[in-house]
Amino acid sequence: MTAKLVLITGASSGIGAATARRYGATGAHVLLLARNEERLDRVAEAVRKAGGTAASYPIDLADAAAVAEASARIAREAGIPDILINNAGAGRWLPIVDTSAEDARAMIEVPYLAAFNLTRAFLPKMLERRSGAIACITSPGSFIAWPNAAAYISARHALAGFTEALRSEAKGKGLSVTLVVLGMVESPYWEHNPGSRERAPKANPLLAPMLTPEDAAEAIFAGIEARKRTVVKPAVFRALFLLNALAPQLVARGLRRATPKSSA
Ligand SMILES: NC(=O)c1ccc[n+]([C@@H]2O[C@H](COP(=O)([O-])OP(=O)(O)OC[C@H]3O[C@@H](n4cnc5c(N)ncnc54)[C@H](OP(=O)(O)O)[C@@H]3O)[C@@H](O)[C@H]2O)c1
Repeated sequence: MTAKLVLITGASSGIGAATARRYGATGAHVLLLARNEERLDRVAEAVRKAGGTAASYPIDLADAAAVAEASARIAREAGIPDILINNAGAGRWLPIVDTSAEDARAMIEVPYLAAFNLTRAFLPKMLERRSGAIACITSPGSFIAWPNAAAYISARHALAGFTEALRSEAKGKGLSVTLVVLGMVESPYWEHNPGSRERAPKANPLLAPMLTPEDAAEAIFAGIEARKRTVVKPAVFRALFLLNALAPQLVARGLRRATPKSSA
């Protein structure tokens, strides 16, 4: 697939910014969405340096009306994306009793509702064109659960459910739908979401090494190019998801044990 017009949400930082640069290197025109305009403009400059072109669209993706307005503006100014990458996300990992209603709502709004609303805005034209790709970026929290991250995990399950439902609606209509499941990535995520690193289950670094944003971007790029249903990186998580389907109590016990005691 030769990417011409690529829309990436959460493009101002970490994985989204690295993915934007990766597409820039293919000569793509990359539409960058996130709230922080200054950081988006810096990423746009990096995309240009990599060989592509870029435009920044500062937006709070939690605002459904703003999503409708921005998608109409993008369609007018740039056209319908060939590739739509729903990557924007945040999520404070907290025990349920410490999670406010506001926290829980914010975690559902972005990533899940943001991905729903943005996809919904472009889907009719993408289906009409019978080509292109949509990818959603998530974590193992879409398939397994550990203590002290309930609102985050619920939102990630919603995103995976949406991706699967989208795939079934798009089947046979020329559009590929990819769910990208990434293990831990050393990005600004951990500073943006205080307390999360401390509450993460400890993984074996030999089996599940920490990824760089560039590793993540390459996995996203290659998975979309190959029109894969699912990309899982590191691949060891596939075995964990399979084991979870066969022996959920065993996996739940292992995850409880791997969660740092002070946060359990
Ligand atoms: N880091 C990891 O270990 C890891 C692992 C698996 C999956 N993921 C997922 O990968 C995605 C990217 O994560 P990252 O590691 O690159 O984190 P990050 O550095 O914190 O980047 C998050 C991006 O989402 C944007 N964003 C957050 N809330 C938004 C909102 N309301 N409206 C618009 N944009 C918003 C942020 O931009 P602004 O602040 O400028 O709005 C930023 O560009 C997230 O969905 C994350 O959950 C991360």
